[in-house]
Amino acid sequence: MILKKLTLQPQGLEVMLPAGSRLTDLEYEIQQRVIPFGCRSGACGSCVVEVVEGGTAALGEPDLDELDFLEDLGKSGGNHRLACQCRLLDSATLRVAE
Ligand code: FES
Repeated sequence: MILKKLTLQPQGLEVMLPAGSRLTDLEYEIQQRVIPFGCRSGACGSCVVEVVEGGTAALGEPDLDELDFLEDLGKSGGNHRLACQCRLLDSATLRVAE
């Protein structure tokens, strides 16, 4: 199994997850609620994260629904993602809103 590193700021938490894991799997892996997931379907905006390192190579391309919703939230421009819609394809660093 290939593992990839997910780093979460500001906690400084580093977690190794199997490549391709959904970020929603995170809390099952570490038994902590670090990213405040709500709907888990890209509809509520509670899981918005800022991408510090990794980008689409690490998290996959956002689909049009995600891009539209990020724009509605004022978070368009490429640095933000809905964590519930991302898979960890390569190592990434994300900043969770406080
Ligand atoms: S958990 Fe609702 S948009 Fe991600």
